[in-house]
Amino acid sequence: MSEQILIIDFGSQYTQLIARRVRELNVYCEIHPFNHLPKATDHLKGVILSGSPCSVREKDAPDIDLAAFRGKVPVLGVCYGAQLMVHQQNGEIVPSKIREYGRARLLKMDQHYDLLKEMTLGNQIWMSHGDTIATLPPDFKNIASTEDVQHAAFKLEHEDTYGIQFHPEVTHSEEGKILLRNFVVHICGCKQDWTPDIFVESTVARLKETLGDDKVVLGLSGGVDSSVAAMLIHRAIGKNLYCIFVDNGLLRKNEFDDVLHSYKDMGLNVKGVDAKARFYESLGGLTDPEDKRKAIGKTFIDVFDEEAHKIRNVRWLAQGTIYPDVIESVSVKGPSATIKSHHNVGGLPEKMNLKVVEPLNTLFKDEVRKVGRALEISENILGRHPFPGPGLGIRIIGDVTAEKVRVLQEVDAIFIDGLKKRGHYNEVWQALAVLLPIQSVGVMGDERTYENVVALRAVGSVDGMTADWSKLPYDFLADISNKIINNVKEVNRIVYDISSKPPATIEWE
Ligand code: XMP
Repeated sequence: MSEQILIIDFGSQYTQLIARRVRELNVYCEIHPFNHLPKATDHLKGVILSGSPCSVREKDAPDIDLAAFRGKVPVLGVCYGAQLMVHQQNGEIVPSKIREYGRARLLKMDQHYDLLKEMTLGNQIWMSHGDTIATLPPDFKNIASTEDVQHAAFKLEHEDTYGIQFHPEVTHSEEGKILLRNFVVHICGCKQDWTPDIFVESTVARLKETLGDDKVVLGLSGGVDSSVAAMLIHRAIGKNLYCIFVDNGLLRKNEFDDVLHSYKDMGLNVKGVDAKARFYESLGGLTDPEDKRKAIGKTFIDVFDEEAHKIRNVRWLAQGTIYPDVIESVSVKGPSATIKSHHNVGGLPEKMNLKVVEPLNTLFKDEVRKVGRALEISENILGRHPFPGPGLGIRIIGDVTAEKVRVLQEVDAIFIDGLKKRGHYNEVWQALAVLLPIQSVGVMGDERTYENVVALRAVGSVDGMTADWSKLPYDFLADISNKIINNVKEVNRIVYDISSKPPATIEWE
């Protein structure tokens, strides 16, 4: 097990970003909610307390007993975390008189302190708090200020405990990375040896030990997560990993055959299952987006379960669950409101009565890609745009039929192919085509047409939580539009989606 930093989550929107920044330093860290803390082990090198939407002055404000950590390992309180330490020692926290949101500069800084080493006087930081520290407790020493915030940073005397009232994890804090490196590397003494290769090596060793000679079943989707999870487990147990790749009839054009080939080339023991007809049948006549998702999810579970039962003595179900899914499910404020039911295979482990193995459940998406590269998985798989489990089923508005899938596959293939040929594919985060349930009048040659309308969508995003529409060049859009209308006779009009998320979502259903 590697050295680690514990990030205690008090519910800030930036907590995951702190973890990203620490991991970028090649140091392993975990986020745990303040009310479910793990026991400290020898691997623990330091603790970071996150911010919070709450105020320490509220009656039920999140609180923890810091005695378990303070003085034993270095502690850094960020924003609420800093105010909590002050509050616990009877310092004074008051509502800010002026708004302390947005940019500020560190105008006074004592760079003798390790936390602020190599930082430049006047560097820009990002503030976001409604309360402020009015008075520090006796053992707390002020080490930095901005124009409006006197106690922008402090250190406890005789103890490696620090607090800062700004957010070093956001990119607007110009030297935030230096500050976090100072804390994690210089103060906590972490060795920065957590790399994709080390992750592969230690995970494969752990999987070997856990799985032994047991058989494991895994559902491949063609996406990055399930492919990387499969390769890791394959390295550990070889042919005892049984992969199942289901053709739900809602994949992109030729995707099933192409991806199945790639998997076989990678040496995976994979079975392709053609279940198109069952999926279309289960979708028959459904138009409500949630009903469609549920029907697709349920059919997948049924098909997968039947196939898995054909493998004798299978003990484990492997899943490509990644870290953000795990963190969300234990968030401080409870799971966020469901806008769309994204969990494609929720309920699968319970139904199958198998033990679950999730080798990627400590990684962020970009780390999964890096691990994939360390495993030499082809860029063709690693560089793919995200593709939802319900596939084209939620890109055909209204009821889904085999014929509509065929039309949309043709359109989508022309769009995606064009993006690749013109070098735009890797510039956008995700691109898709949507078949609309309306027809419009057109003219081709001397003929009047009355055909389908298709919407194209391309977005830029970091994690799919927010997104903006991509400003693809007009001449490219014109070209693609022509190509689609000339080659897919069922379509006579193309529109381009120019909505951001929020308020729209990426998928139309
Ligand atoms: P939305 O439409 O909510 O999508 O803005 C955000 C990201 O999630 C993908 N998505 C899904 N992925 N199962 C998935 O595995 C789903 O049911 C699902 N719905 C949306 C979507 O493609 C985008 O990348």
